[in-house]
Amino acid sequence: MHKAKISGMGHYLPKKVITNDDLSKLMDTSDQWIQERTGIVERRWVDPENQVSSSKMGFYAAEMAIKNSGINKNEIDHILFATISPDYYFPGNGVLIQDMLEIETIGATDIRNACSGFIYALSVANAYIQTGQYKNILVIGSELQSPVLDKSTKGRDLSVIFGDGAGAAVISRSYDESEIYSTHLHSEGKNSIELSMQGPSAIHWLDEVQSNGEKSSLFSPQMNGKFIFKNAIVRFEEVIKEVLEKNSMKLEEIDCLIPHQANLRISQFIQKKLKLKDDQVFNNIQKYGNTTGASIPIAMSEAIQNNFIKTGDIVCLAAFGAGFTWGSTLLKY
Ligand code: ACO
Repeated sequence: MHKAKISGMGHYLPKKVITNDDLSKLMDTSDQWIQERTGIVERRWVDPENQVSSSKMGFYAAEMAIKNSGINKNEIDHILFATISPDYYFPGNGVLIQDMLEIETIGATDIRNACSGFIYALSVANAYIQTGQYKNILVIGSELQSPVLDKSTKGRDLSVIFGDGAGAAVISRSYDESEIYSTHLHSEGKNSIELSMQGPSAIHWLDEVQSNGEKSSLFSPQMNGKFIFKNAIVRFEEVIKEVLEKNSMKLEEIDCLIPHQANLRISQFIQKKLKLKDDQVFNNIQKYGNTTGASIPIAMSEAIQNNFIKTGDIVCLAAFGAGFTWGSTLLKY
């Protein structure tokens, strides 16, 4: 069996900064409420005039990841694109990246596991490389969420949390010490409705047709915030312990934990519960909000850029989100 590693990472964030004060002009909220409950100070939202889509942001992040990996783009054997905000209902974003990169007609797979999307994609990439089927796989997590958020006071619990952005990684066959040790995935579909956007969908197309132009709540994300919080803190802890146990490692051996940037309060709760030190956990939700499937690759790319993650470090990635789905990865960078 071959070993896989992360050989390069990249990220892209739209230029337009939306502060909490900007939001309070759109809805009844405040900088104090948002910071106290979520830790978020500002987020990036795509400027509608620029028409930057999730595939385009993914492409920009991919260009950086490919450059940092040192491979030629024509050495990529497969594309995995994780998003819940694709450009089209179909086809998925993966094929759009194949076209934008102007590379051979390699396969492109789309993944729709929301906040856990990047971990799910990593697990597929890891397996492909381990079996020897592919040598270099481009994995992208990208989300354009701002257009579908309900920016009125009705949608404020959710719209203050989410942001736009993209992260990418090149996963390559490893010939050195760097390695993805293992990935662990879970799902619990009975809670699917607790964090969801039900339309547009094949079963809701009539609702859209009959809405007479009035936007139905089916077409904006809905969240049971307290229920998500309670489940997230339990599942994060479980899945981090699961990956450590599988690899006979202890919490103190983690050099960097990157939890999906759902909410700073969730990250801080997990850090405290696991007794991890500040220099073992990387968060950047304060600047970018929750970017769903893009949050882990954006954070990891930034952590590498800032020297928070160095070659040889033990890195743990963990996610929880819509589905519910959750998962973890342990790797040596
Ligand atoms: N600004 C001001 N007031 C608000 C806002 C807002 N943006 N949103 C809600 N409120 C109000 C509510 O209307 C309510 O008012 P009321 O008491 O008059 O009824 C009050 O604030 C408290 O609302 P709660 O929903 O009880 O607030 P809570 O303390 O639970 O915090 C939050 C809400 C931040 C969403 C919290 O439940 C949470 O952190 N949940 C986790 C969900 C999460 O992180 N989701 C991220 C996406 S999911 C993922 O990535 C896994």
